[in-house]
Amino acid sequence: MSGTVFPIWKARFTCKFGGSTWVFLNSSRVVTDLLERRAALYSSRPPFPMTQSIMSRDSRIVLMPYTQRWRVLRKIMHQILSARAVDVFMPFQDLESKNLIWDYLETPDKWWVANGRYANSVIMSVVFGRRSLLDDPDVVELFETVELFLENQQPGANLVDGFPVLEKLPKVLQWWRPRGEVIFEKTVKVYQREVERLERKKKEGTQRRCFATDFLETEEVKKMDEIQKLFVFGTLMEAGSDTSRVTIGQIIAGAATYPDWVSRARAELDAVCGHNAERLPQWEDRPKLKYISAVVKEGFRWRPNIAEIGAPTMLTKDDEYEGYKFPAGTVFTWNAWAIALDPKEYEDPERFWPERFLDGEEENALKGHWAFGPGRRVCVGWKVGEMNVWIAIARILYCFDFKQIPGKPIDTMAIPQITKNAAPFDVKVVVRSQAHADLIRRDCEEAVNTRY
Ligand code: HEM
Repeated sequence: MSGTVFPIWKARFTCKFGGSTWVFLNSSRVVTDLLERRAALYSSRPPFPMTQSIMSRDSRIVLMPYTQRWRVLRKIMHQILSARAVDVFMPFQDLESKNLIWDYLETPDKWWVANGRYANSVIMSVVFGRRSLLDDPDVVELFETVELFLENQQPGANLVDGFPVLEKLPKVLQWWRPRGEVIFEKTVKVYQREVERLERKKKEGTQRRCFATDFLETEEVKKMDEIQKLFVFGTLMEAGSDTSRVTIGQIIAGAATYPDWVSRARAELDAVCGHNAERLPQWEDRPKLKYISAVVKEGFRWRPNIAEIGAPTMLTKDDEYEGYKFPAGTVFTWNAWAIALDPKEYEDPERFWPERFLDGEEENALKGHWAFGPGRRVCVGWKVGEMNVWIAIARILYCFDFKQIPGKPIDTMAIPQITKNAAPFDVKVVVRSQAHADLIRRDCEEAVNTRY
């Protein structure tokens, strides 16, 4: 990676990464103008010889160029994740979030692992018809593959992704290739294990109907090779698990460092569910819990920790914007941190302050921040992700307090994205009262003991 940076104007700057020019879009205005209004030109991806070609055999949808193959996969994902399909997720989110607060009560030090289990178990229930357990080694391994992908996707992590021309070297001289192949093998093994388990349970007659049982019977799947098929499942598992665990973690960091908003969230929750732990928040309460929806949006905005510098897209035709000429092949990305923390975009941007989203648009989860990305590559699972976070946060905030640990303050500007399964910061999780502990024991035990 060469580090030349050309600040052209405040709304964006350009940067040379290896062989290509990257334009960082630093304001919502230019992101909307280019990545949304001109999405037909700005929705492809640059080549990633290491992370896409070797580590993913060109099969990870998130890195695919804007092609017919991407469209087919996007349609498949949309069928399972769209706003109209989310009713399928709600009972699982209800059950798994009960399990989540049970885990917070019984093993508060494992709150991070519990977040991961929760998010993973929701998507596994819908996709494979099975739940996951706390400390499940399969979940640990899945998160390892996510982190390997994220680690290698950082700009500069692999020289060849900055200088795709290096791909022309004979394979034996491609020093990065053996490492990429090892990661590919590990990743595919993790995905394959789930499909094999499903086939085994089908033979035994114990498999529940789920996305995978239906998908494996479709015409689309017959046109796919084995690897493409595995990556459909893998993408759902990976994208569905890490993102929600991270966002719930961010909101907990916000609660521990800016506790003033928590009391306002509590006042709303207590007014709806009772001041003395009468009952847990439910889906039906959502219209009355606008502040919680605002908390979730603020959690997405506050410290972009999923796509810290956005997700790069590649211009497919020469274009001109406000006097600047961009040749086809230029890479663009929305500069997530710069936008989220710009006082011109958000008043007092460093503060976790849900009130900024109490604007009548609380239920429009995409509006007012870029956590799910812009334009046609917007996260296809945004609705499911937002609902995962909403029900979990409503219940967690109703039942628990979060405190910083003396001597270990949370540096919210430096919460690491890659942690090798360890919690990204230290925090003390304390149940609000005996009555809240009793409520969890009464209402959640059945969810914990449910098996499929
Ligand atoms: C919980 C919060 C979530 C956040 C913050 C999030 C964020 C993102 C971001 C930033 C992108 C890239 C957007 C772009 O390229 O412009 C993305 C893409 C994607 N997400 Fe999510 N995501 C979340 C949940 C989920 C869930 C639950 C699923 C599926 C179960 C999912 C599946 C995907 C897929 C398949 C893509 C690739 C889309 C494409 O390239 O066309 N996401 N997500």
